[in-house]
Order: sequence, then C-alpha cells, then structure tokens
Amino acid sequence: MKLWRGGRLATLAGEQGWGLIADGAMLVDGDGMLQWVGQSAEAPVADEVAELHGALVTPGLVDCHTHLVYGGNRANEFEQRLHGQSYAEIARAGGGIKSTVAATRGATEAELLASATKRALALIAEGVTTLEVKSGYGLDADTEARMLRVARRLASLGVDVRTTYLAAHALPPEFADADDYIAAACQWLPALHREGLVDAVDAFCEHIAFSPAQVARVFDTAQRLGLPVKLHAEQLSDQGGARLAASYRALSCDHLEYLGPAGIQAMAEAGTVAVLLPGAFYALRETQLPPLEGLREAGVPIAIATDHNPGSSPTLSPLLMMNMACVLFRMTPEEALRGLTVNGARALGLRDRGQLVAGQRADFCVWDGGHPRELAACFGHNPLVERVLKGNQGEA
Ligand code: NIG
Ligand code: FE
Repeated sequence: MKLWRGGRLATLAGEQGWGLIADGAMLVDGDGMLQWVGQSAEAPVADEVAELHGALVTPGLVDCHTHLVYGGNRANEFEQRLHGQSYAEIARAGGGIKSTVAATRGATEAELLASATKRALALIAEGVTTLEVKSGYGLDADTEARMLRVARRLASLGVDVRTTYLAAHALPPEFADADDYIAAACQWLPALHREGLVDAVDAFCEHIAFSPAQVARVFDTAQRLGLPVKLHAEQLSDQGGARLAASYRALSCDHLEYLGPAGIQAMAEAGTVAVLLPGAFYALRETQLPPLEGLREAGVPIAIATDHNPGSSPTLSPLLMMNMACVLFRMTPEEALRGLTVNGARALGLRDRGQLVAGQRADFCVWDGGHPRELAACFGHNPLVERVLKGNQGEA
C-alpha cells in the first residue's frame, strides 16, 4: 500500500462540485485502486509514503473521442477553408475523410503505429490516462483491422485504450451505393469483435455521411453482438441521430451543435452522455452552439474531448479543450473538468474512474497549481507534474 499525502485534491466526488480536500491523502492498494481518500491528518498508516507538497491533484484525464490513428495530414484543407470552402464542400469534392482514407490505406501498421505513438504521447504528456481511439479511415476490412490493432498497441505507452469501430464514417470510393457499403461494414464487425478489437460501435449520421436508417442497421449488428453504440450526431444538421442513438441506449452522442429539444429529451431518458467537441467547433468556425442550457436542464451528463483527427480537429491538447469549452460554449471550469474525467469515462461506459474516491482506479494527475479552475482558465500551458496510471508513477 502506498499513501500519497499533502495534496490539494479535486476529487469530483458526487454529482457536482469540485469535491475539494485542501490537505488530502489517497491510499493506493497493490492492484492500483484507491483504498481510501480523505484528510492527510486522518490517513491510515502505509508502508510507502509520497509527499505531494501542496500540489493540485485531479482524476486522470479521459479523452473519450479521438481519431488518433491515420496516415497523412490535411493542412491543405485548412488553407482551403480559409479561402472560403466549407468542410462539407471539401468532403463532397472527395477531400476530407476520403483523402485520409487513401493515406491510411497506403500506410503500413508500423507507420501508423509510429505516427499514432507521437500523438498519444502528446495527450499523455497533458495528463490523459484513458484514451478512446476510433477506426474509420480504413473503410475496408483489412485497414479497419489494422487501425484497431494499432490503437490497441498504444496501451504499451502506459495509457488505458478503448477502441471504437467507425466503419460507417464515409462512403469509400469502391462502393457506389451506401446501402451496399453498410452491409459490408456490418459483415466485417463480428470477426473484429472476435479478435477482441472492438469495445464500442460508432457511426457518422449526416447528410455528407449516412442516414438514420443506415446507422440503424449498423446499430442492430452491434446490438446482436452485445456491443454498445455511440454516434457522431447533429454536427452539421439535425438528422434525428440523437433520438435514434438514444433508442439503442447509446453510451454517447457526440458533436451535437444542431441537437434539438426532442433529441435532448431522448438522451436524458436513455442516460446517453453528450460529448461536446470544442476543437471541431473552433476549427470549422461553426457558429451554431450546442444547446448547453437544454442539456443542463434535462440533466444530460456532458463530456468534452479532443476529437483529435486530421481534418476538423487537429489538436492534441485536452487542456485547451477545457478552456475552449468554457470560452466558446460557456461551460463552467468544473463542468469542463468533469467533462474530461468522470463524464468522459461514462461516455465510454466506464464507472471505475474519473473521481478520486475509494473503489476507483488510482488514475490521477498532479499539477503545478492551486485551484482546479486554473486548468481551464489558462491556455497554451501544460502544468502537469506527474501522471499516475493505476498507481504507477513516472508516466508523465
Ligand atoms: O469527429 N465528423 C466526423 N468525423 C470527424 C472528422 C473526420 C475527418 O474530418 O477526418 C469528427 O469531426
Ligand atoms: Fe469524431
């Protein structure tokens, strides 16, 4: 047993509030779980003691929505958008996701691993302890599998990885008919699942991607395999995706700028988490804000994530996302931190992390700071001192 003592703990215990313990301690057992959390003065005796010297401690960050594995980059599209072309126009002209598909298909597993490793290390360096990675730039059985295998291998960097099958991301060039492609994407899933490569299934429901009826076929396949679903929903328009996803008790609906009251209600009833992605909102210069007040009123848990991808959100900074969630969406710093910890975990169906309370994993970050709101107030900074994954130090 190891005792960490003398920290300013932002435990996030309970459903709201920072859960601050000004001079707090945590006892970690041999399995990397929090045995006890409380005041340093009341801490139990332990064989090993680490002093935190008043540093700020939060739960480890959970980045619950990334597209971290891919080939190439799309900085050219950044320039195109600056010259007035929209994300949807670029996609319809064969750029966008499809251009990353071409680059990903042309990359070996070693190449994909090398580039994804650099990105994962950047996220880890800002305190990420749980990382979700989606497929969706392969769009054929082999390349989707290659992406998911690479994602799994990122775990050796010292981060807990969750993988999501996103074959229903775009229509690949060899298919003329979207329904035919959806049939193929559904067919590939069982083998990938048997290989242990899939924790959840996602789709992109949008006028430039797939219809609710097509998404439903993917979700039916997931459901038959016992896999939970999530959805890229209402990013560019209201397609009724959130209502559909909620009817499958989706773990999360993500983006949601165009989400309406019916979708909010359905998500609230299903316990579906709203994952807001300020990086994509910012980079696409979106002006339609996600319905934050409606989500709050309905009691929908709100997560935030980097949505790292080469097109709409090429960021590797979860801390910047906290700041943007506050400045752009008017979330509170506390909501932003909960969004990157406990609610990010919920968006992945994980209940064993995201709060510093007994019984949870000992995944936490030690920061050079006094109050947790500083993490959201500053931007372009990285005050991480140490990152602990399941009780193991030296991961920062
Ligand atoms: O989450 N919206 C769809 N998928 C990604 C973007 C993918 C891309 O542009 O490469 C997203 O924003
Ligand atoms: Fe995404």
